[in-house]
Amino acid sequence: MATVTSTRPYHIIIFGASGFTGQFVVEEVARSAFEGPSGSLKWALAGRSRQRLEGVLNQAAETLRKPELRTEVEIIVADVSQADSLAIMCQQGLVVLNCVGPYRFYGEPVVKACIENGAHCVDICGEPQFLERMQLEYHSRAMDSGVYVIGSCGFDSIPADMGILYTKNQFKGTLTAVESFLTIHTGPEGGCAHDGTWQSAIYGFADSGSLRKLRKKFGHQPLPVVGATVKKRGSLFFSKEIDQYAIPFMGSDPSVVRRSQRFLYEGHQELPVRSNTTTHLYCLTGCLRSVTQRCHIVFPEFFSFGVFTKAGPSRKQMEGTSFSLTFFGEGYAEGLDPSQGRPNARICTQIHGAEPGYVATPVAMVQAAITVLNEPQFLPIKGGVYSPGAAFARTTLIDRLNRHGLVFSVKRF
Ligand SMILES: NC(=O)c1ccc[n+]([C@@H]2O[C@H](COP(=O)([O-])OP(=O)(O)OC[C@H]3O[C@@H](n4cnc5c(N)ncnc54)[C@H](OP(=O)(O)O)[C@@H]3O)[C@@H](O)[C@H]2O)c1
Repeated sequence: MATVTSTRPYHIIIFGASGFTGQFVVEEVARSAFEGPSGSLKWALAGRSRQRLEGVLNQAAETLRKPELRTEVEIIVADVSQADSLAIMCQQGLVVLNCVGPYRFYGEPVVKACIENGAHCVDICGEPQFLERMQLEYHSRAMDSGVYVIGSCGFDSIPADMGILYTKNQFKGTLTAVESFLTIHTGPEGGCAHDGTWQSAIYGFADSGSLRKLRKKFGHQPLPVVGATVKKRGSLFFSKEIDQYAIPFMGSDPSVVRRSQRFLYEGHQELPVRSNTTTHLYCLTGCLRSVTQRCHIVFPEFFSFGVFTKAGPSRKQMEGTSFSLTFFGEGYAEGLDPSQGRPNARICTQIHGAEPGYVATPVAMVQAAITVLNEPQFLPIKGGVYSPGAAFARTTLIDRLNRHGLVFSVKRF
């Protein structure tokens, strides 16, 4: 098995650069190139159509008002269904940013090729089944080859995962539980997400049964419980904290946060923080499950009430959209024994950022990759398949995100 070396032609290869999300990742890499090792980043685009990739590069140059990008950025043709092409791609880069989804269909060959050819892999998967299965099946192989496979580095689930670590670091004492609330703010143009994201979400919901079987295979011991239990929430509830109705969050956040908390407990003896992730009643509700999956895939716009469309949001819609994720934490003040009595201290923190799917996601993904490149000494000692919180707990990722518009702050103690 190959291991990661720094003698490769590219620091970053964006695979799936011609996709809806991929095109914005390309722009974000171009904007952040000065943050690469030694102040410059060598990068390439990869995908199955050279012509489409050239189109993306030209469009990015136009958007960023650069005369062109073609002379500084290479194009690599690679297809998930051709293992040789993936191997050749992975041998040329230190980090592959994988934007090819749904990951349940296309993700595994990329993870495998990265591990076998010594390239770190960062993705924006929001599918817990895929993320957990990769950990189960590839963690030890990735460790052996010193490769970091870090999934869910987009809006799913960097804000939720790093937000809990931030809240814990700001809390003066022992934080034991957090409930978080997501709000999406849209401008007069409204907002939506792209069909590719929709398909990934729908296949994920439809397969939640396999997640239970998968989790049994890990054979995990239950995590210790300290403090009051987090409130069990119904499928629609009124929250006094935010004075609004909310629904449980249906994406990968709860699974990712749990994996990070387990890693920090088992690897670093840090008391795990229990959490609930919820969404304001803004977009989708549990009624999605009652409509057949096939209809969802064919008519995303209709069945998601216009939240997901084949065309994706316009740039104007994206400019008018932002999110805030608010964390209500509780625990034991400094000096108090968390095994005695009830929690007696609180904290409220928030992450505020631009449009989640195609502005905040590329920022989070690119900053995750730049952190892998610039701060290898602060990553877990060996390679492996990690959640963002596990991989980046000791890095400066939060500071980097703050500088790029994903702003973490303490609202009140
Ligand atoms: N974490 C988050 O918050 C977040 C946010 C946004 C998106 N996402 C995820 O990102 C993924 C992509 O979403 P999207 O909306 O950008 O989808 P998309 O527009 O359909 O893009 C899919 C990409 O995959 C490529 N592809 C498909 N089959 C391939 C193959 N056999 N070999 C190589 N490339 C192949 C496509 O290439 P062609 O151009 O050649 O067709 C395209 O570049 C989804 O899983 C979505 O859930 C996550």
